[in-house]
Amino acid sequence: MNPLILSHVKKTFPGKTGPIVALRDADFAIEEGEIFGLLGPNGAGKTTIINIALNLLKPDSGEVRIFGEKPSPNVLRQINLIAGGSSFHWAQTPKDILTFFSKAYHIPDRDKKIAEVLQKTRTEHLQDRKFSWLSTGERLRVAFAKALLNSPKLLLMDEPTLGLDPDVARQIRKEVLDLKKSGTTILLTTHYMHEVEQLCDRIGFIYRGQIIDIGRVKEVKLKHFGTYDAILTLNKKPSARLAKDLALTVKENKAKATLESEDALANLLAAVHTAGYKIIDIHLKKPSLEDYFIKITGEQQ
Ligand SMILES: Nc1ncnc2c1ncn2[C@@H]1O[C@H](COP(=O)(O)OP(=O)(O)O)[C@@H](O)[C@H]1O
Ligand SMILES: [Mg+2]
Repeated sequence: MNPLILSHVKKTFPGKTGPIVALRDADFAIEEGEIFGLLGPNGAGKTTIINIALNLLKPDSGEVRIFGEKPSPNVLRQINLIAGGSSFHWAQTPKDILTFFSKAYHIPDRDKKIAEVLQKTRTEHLQDRKFSWLSTGERLRVAFAKALLNSPKLLLMDEPTLGLDPDVARQIRKEVLDLKKSGTTILLTTHYMHEVEQLCDRIGFIYRGQIIDIGRVKEVKLKHFGTYDAILTLNKKPSARLAKDLALTVKENKAKATLESEDALANLLAAVHTAGYKIIDIHLKKPSLEDYFIKITGEQQ
């Protein structure tokens, strides 16, 4: 049973100069046990999808299914949300926040569950501090603790690492992987390509309210960027013969090769070495997320 299916979901908001189309045709399904990444620039429609999945917004047309059912209080009890930059009442403490939500979720044996999620998210020492005193990373941990209260089978994460220090973001990514190992299905939105590469089984590229590409991370990348450039700096100018044999573009003692795989790089280095050259420097020009966006959004124009 797919934890989440969106079928041809359309959503517009009223705007001053006419309707704002947030989702044109959002159509995808999440598989049980996977981390599915929704990757797209600001304003693409990621948060709108999350809000529709949580039944906070109603689609204009199209359908949503959570574990095969229409969103109802009963199915919604099986899911939860962690949003980056989560905000709770400034004067509440994590303990207050967790007590409030555990009542809202009708959690039996509340104190035991709160102790458990505080321990899991390593926030025990923060439980009596005012929320407004906490750092961005600590606030996110509290949001994590809140999201674990109902042991969700599907967890929605809306740009969870937004604004975090690299160290804290890395720790959070590790915890996301641990959650997956424990059997939780995760939908994660982000605009960080490296986050997607480290975490996600599959990705959907969302642009202007439409999923324009979907698949395994490697497949999607390879499809758009089958090649990358390697620029080698050698101890001397490569001979015309070597340049021809290895299809190098040569400028002084630098040689550029266009490669199709990691194996191709190893083969290139071995061939250059065997020909008697020393490799002083290697620079790989792999496309960045920005290049990726420019390319795929350009294709959509
Ligand atoms: N409540 C709203 N009223 C009007 N426009 C909105 C509202 N929520 C979102 N939008 C617009 O819908 C589009 C998608 O927004 P959003 O889903 O928040 O994008 P993302 O999360 O990918 O940055 C944007 O153009 C945004 O300005
Ligand atoms: Mg958003």
